[in-house]
Amino acid sequence: MISFELNGEPVSIDVEAEMPLLWVIREEIGLRGTKFGCGMGLCGACTVHLNGQPVRSCSLPVSAADNQQVSTVESLGDEDNPHPVQRAWIEQQVPQCGYCQSGMQMAAVALLESNPSPTNAEIDNSISNICRCGTYDRIRAAIRQASEEIG
Ligand code: FES
Ligand code: FES
Repeated sequence: MISFELNGEPVSIDVEAEMPLLWVIREEIGLRGTKFGCGMGLCGACTVHLNGQPVRSCSLPVSAADNQQVSTVESLGDEDNPHPVQRAWIEQQVPQCGYCQSGMQMAAVALLESNPSPTNAEIDNSISNICRCGTYDRIRAAIRQASEEIG
C-alpha cells in the first residue's frame, strides 16, 4: 500500500511500487490534467510537484511519493479562481495545442516559488519542459506577468 497526500487530500492505493506516479495519478485516481508525452523524462508534460519541487511523474516510481506530498495542476485553481500563473497564461494567450501547458504551469509555479522575479535567462535555465508548438515567448511573458502579481 502506498500512501501520500495528493492536492491536500490523503490517498492510499494498492499498486506496484514501480508503477510510475503519472499512471497512478491519471489511471488509478482519474486526475487527467497531468499529461503523458514522451514517457522518458524528457518533455515535462507530466510535471507535478513532489514536496513542492517539480518532478517528471512519468519517470518517478510511485514508491517515491510514499508518505510525501504531491500536487498536480488541479491544485492550482479553477475557472472561477485561477492561480496568478493561470490568470497570466490566459491573459497572454499562451497555449496553442495546450498539451504541454499543465506541465509548464507546474514548472512555472515552482520556479516563482524559488525565484519570485526570474529573468528570461533564468526562466530558460530552470524550465526544461518542451513545447512542440513553440509558445516559449508567451510562456516567458506570462511568467513575468505572474511574477509582478505575486511579487
Ligand atoms: S511524459 Fe514525462 S517527461 Fe515527457
Ligand atoms: S502548446 Fe502545443 S505543445 Fe505546447
